Amino acid sequence: MPQLTIALTKGRILKETLPLLASAGIEPLEDIAASRKLTFETSSPDVRLLILRGSDVPTYVEFGAADVGVSGKDTLIEHGDSAFYEPLDLKISRCRLMTAGIVGKSLPAGRIRVATKYTNLAKRYYAGKGRQVDLIKLYGAMELAPLMSLADEIVDIVDTGNTLKANGLEARDTIAEISSRLIVNKASMKMKHQQIEALIDAISAAVKEREEAA
Ligand code: PRP
Repeated sequence: MPQLTIALTKGRILKETLPLLASAGIEPLEDIAASRKLTFETSSPDVRLLILRGSDVPTYVEFGAADVGVSGKDTLIEHGDSAFYEPLDLKISRCRLMTAGIVGKSLPAGRIRVATKYTNLAKRYYAGKGRQVDLIKLYGAMELAPLMSLADEIVDIVDTGNTLKANGLEARDTIAEISSRLIVNKASMKMKHQQIEALIDAISAAVKEREEAA
C-alpha cells in the first residue's frame, strides 16, 4: 500500500477527529497532544499523521504534501475551496461565521472598516452586499478592534457567543455555518483511490453513528 499522509491541527479538531480515525483503524502510536513532534506513525503502517497550523492544512493538501486533511470550513472558504475535493462533512467543531459590532451602534454611511483574519472571505461577503470596506488583517482577539475604534465591524467565529458578550459586542449577520471537513488532494484521490475511498467510508459511517447516538 502507498503511504497515506493525513494533515490535522492540534486542539479541538484533533480531539474530535481522533475517534473518527480510530474507527477507520488509524490510531497514533504516541500521545500527539503531549508531544512537540510534527509527524506521527500510526497503528496502520501505511498511514502517518502531520500536525500543522490550521490555516496551513489546505495548502499542504492542495500541493499534495498531504493526501488528506481535516480543516474548518472557515479556513477552507478563506483559502479558496476549489483547490481540493471536500467529500465529507465531519460535523465536528461546529460554529458560525458572523459579523459583529458594538451593541446598539449602527454602521456609518459609506466605507466601513472591518477587522478579521478572514480577509478574502470578508472581501467577497461585503462586495456581495455592495458595501465598500477597508479590511484590517488581525491574527486574534478580533473582539478588541471595535472597542478600540480600529474597526466598525469584525468578521469572526461565534460559538457560544460568550466572547462577544463579554466585550460588549453583538452578533449581526451569519455568513456561513461552519464545521470541520475532510479534504483530499485531487491527484491522491486518483492515485490512492482504494485507500482513500476506504477511509472516507469508515469515517462517514462513524460520523453517521455519532449523529444517531446524539
Ligand atoms: C474563537 C473566536 C472567538 C471565540 C468565539 O477564538 O475567534 O474569539 O472563539 O467563541 P465563543 O462564541 O464561544 O465565545 P479561539 O478561542 O478559537 O481562538 P483564536 O482567536 O485563536 O481563533
